Amino acid sequence: MAFIRTVFILAGLAALRANAAFNGLAITPQMGWNTWNAFSCDIDERLILETAQTIVELGFKDLGYHYVVIDDCWSAGRNSTGHLQPDPNKFPNGMDFLSDKLHSMGLGMGMYSDAGSLTCARFEGSLGHEQIDAQTFASWGVDYLKYDNCFNEGQSGTPLITYNRYKTMATALNATGRPILYSICNWGEDYPWKWAQTVGNSWRMSGDIFDTFDKPDARCPCTGEDAFECQLPGWHCSMMNILNKVALFPEKGVPGAWNDMDMLEVGNGGMTDDEYVVHFSMWAALKSPLIMGNDLRKVNAQTLSILSNPAVLAVSQDPLSSPAFQRWRYYVGDKDEYGQGEIQMWSGDLSGGDMLVVLLNAGDKNRNMNATLADIFWDHGPGGTATQVKQAWDVYDLWANRVDNATANAIIAAAKANTTAPDNALPFGYNATANGGYEAGLTQNVPALFGKKVGSVRPNGKVTAEVRRHSVAMLRLRATKVEL
Ligand code: GAL
Repeated sequence: MAFIRTVFILAGLAALRANAAFNGLAITPQMGWNTWNAFSCDIDERLILETAQTIVELGFKDLGYHYVVIDDCWSAGRNSTGHLQPDPNKFPNGMDFLSDKLHSMGLGMGMYSDAGSLTCARFEGSLGHEQIDAQTFASWGVDYLKYDNCFNEGQSGTPLITYNRYKTMATALNATGRPILYSICNWGEDYPWKWAQTVGNSWRMSGDIFDTFDKPDARCPCTGEDAFECQLPGWHCSMMNILNKVALFPEKGVPGAWNDMDMLEVGNGGMTDDEYVVHFSMWAALKSPLIMGNDLRKVNAQTLSILSNPAVLAVSQDPLSSPAFQRWRYYVGDKDEYGQGEIQMWSGDLSGGDMLVVLLNAGDKNRNMNATLADIFWDHGPGGTATQVKQAWDVYDLWANRVDNATANAIIAAAKANTTAPDNALPFGYNATANGGYEAGLTQNVPALFGKKVGSVRPNGKVTAEVRRHSVAMLRLRATKVEL
């Protein structure tokens, strides 16, 4: 079955490649950083350059975080020839200067516009100006465009209307001849998971994320069950709200075109360390783009060690590109103040015949959780019929080798002092950029990508783990080698 799925994915990739709109980018989910979650409109050239420097010095670039994306509020409108202009106070040297700087550091330059007359913060939008704006972005050396949905002049309400509006910019970007990753941000309106794969590299599938674990908010009215026909995606959506929405359609993400669960809040302070581990784990397991959204210049040890966990990044960037699926979800009595009191199990195929298992405890108590091999391998044969259920597995904990605070602090201090960071190459580090991604490291069994072996499971057995409240066990099953 794994073989069949691989063939299916490769066939799908070939089909997408054959599509004229496909730009060959984001074969694995894009990684980078964006200004919005931490800075909103308070952005300028200095912030971008300092952050880019930090991305390099802290090792994020080596891990594959590539795009530095300037979100809303960069613009000063159009000049007399109709070209967009950057705000001269915020970006005095212009955007081509900035992209040159980023490129010289080995990073990609991302920008933002809107498929409407105005952006969400009410700067000039690109609706009706797609060709000239795409050319402007290309002339500035832009590598990534996030394209929002505010003030769309009523051009929404059916998938075809929205598709056409977003396709106009896709065509304009492709016509520039510059490969520009196209990140559609229409909040899941008009079912982008049905149509966006042939025009964009990712599509937001929900309203805006807010830095909370599970707190409901009237401004994010749709919950998981109604995600597929949400009329008001809204904002202030909790991490669990978004997770329970994407659970309905993880398979819609394919190489080159991903479900975007919105930018990361890790490090912004609204969740506990365990909750951020859940957030990062699930975004990686579901193959969402991983776009950091915190102030990297002030990163602390715990945040650094979450965002730079190579064993979790190897799940996100796995060459098989198969998302995890929710196998079960149960409500439990121990509700926290806000949430529904629930536990979930997710599993998904990984390359090399491995299997990802995530045990998520969103209840209010620490608990022992377990999952049967039959449930984990359900798609390979329901009811325990899969051959994988009848074999033994070694269990690797993908968070067990998380960098400790002392090491992380030493890395941060070295970056601040502009000296060489302590060698964190083994067993923790992995230079994905130098190795062209995670595939080479996975094929070569680089230890950093596999976490730590913590046990094994017999044929027909169960995977078990102690999982604290609002936390996960993120496990990688590897077939037990039979000694001859
Ligand atoms: C929202 C979008 C956010 C951010 C913001 C900027 O529509 O979902 O991610 O880009 O606009 O105004």
